[in-house]
Amino acid sequence: MMKRIFSGIKPTGHLTLGNYLGALRRWVEADQHQADALFSVVDLHALTVDHDPARVRRLSRQAATLMLAAGLDPALCTVFVQSHVDEHARLSYILECTATDGELRRMIQYKEKSVRARAAGQSVRLSLLTYPVLMAADILAYGADEVPVGEDQTQHVELTRDLAVRFNQRYGHTFRIPRATQPPVAARVMDLQDPTSKMGKSHESGAGIIYLLDEADVVRKKIMRAVTDSGQDVEYHPGSRPGVANLLEILSACTGRNPKELAGVYESYGALKKDTAEAVLELLRPIRERHAELVADPGHVDEVLRKGAGRAREMARPTVDAAYRAIGLLPAG
Ligand code: AMP
Ligand code: TRP
Repeated sequence: MMKRIFSGIKPTGHLTLGNYLGALRRWVEADQHQADALFSVVDLHALTVDHDPARVRRLSRQAATLMLAAGLDPALCTVFVQSHVDEHARLSYILECTATDGELRRMIQYKEKSVRARAAGQSVRLSLLTYPVLMAADILAYGADEVPVGEDQTQHVELTRDLAVRFNQRYGHTFRIPRATQPPVAARVMDLQDPTSKMGKSHESGAGIIYLLDEADVVRKKIMRAVTDSGQDVEYHPGSRPGVANLLEILSACTGRNPKELAGVYESYGALKKDTAEAVLELLRPIRERHAELVADPGHVDEVLRKGAGRAREMARPTVDAAYRAIGLLPAG
């Protein structure tokens, strides 16, 4: 049987260069050709922190459109919106009965985000704690073998494996055990203004973040103003020179050349930034063009999502039904 792959993007902000280099590009170039792949706009996950309903709706459509614009092909893979398929929430509850409170409280992302929310005087939604269980349901419902994610998500995939193994041991073999996979370069694109933290779509200030839909002059400005390190020489030292290393990694991801080797080519930060900006623009140009075409034809995107949800539902239902039976729930006749 063909390998199954599942991955998702949360519609919590505009998609960034980090999303593209860390995830989307590989889904397009490799995963959809080599596997039976599903890619989802995981909108239920966007509700775990304070949110604006209209914005989530808008960003969900935009994320789906950008996924198609970047080259996901509905003839090769399944593109859908998570909330269109009930099986995710249905399985999540069963997995909540498999996971423990302690193991969820240990998740790094939960610890970081809950501390931040409390510091800002906000309440912490219960779904922020249970969110990795829903993510496990996303993955296990489809019997995914591989889950391509950035390194910040590997802990959640580990939890998914633990839950699958535990469920299988207790109730009989039901779930396939997935594993996380990571792209070889630019697995973690850092913020241009704060190169020790990742370029994330929900950062407060957008100055260090390249959005896939940023205008060309905005992209240039953000890269030219990127924080670099003290020193003059262009060297690749991610630990001690994170700003320059980040630029070299971005340029490397755009050109396919090794970051160390690229470091040797440049004598000034200015020249490195200029070439990085042009390389990023070149990379994004076809995506932006295709996005504009798709925006002009919203009926097409709706149709792709409708068919995708139908296909996803059919794939997920037998496994979720099996989990309901295995855990002891009476079948509905
Ligand atoms: P998120 O933006 O958190 O929904 O992430 C969607 C996908 O993009 C996940 O696989 C993330 O790990 C990946 N991703 C997000 N931001 C970055 C980044 N700055 N560098 C690399 N990968 C990223
Ligand atoms: N939690 C992931 C993120 O923040 C998004 C996600 C949700 C996901 N469900 C998933 C990724 C299932 C892979 C598989 O990036």
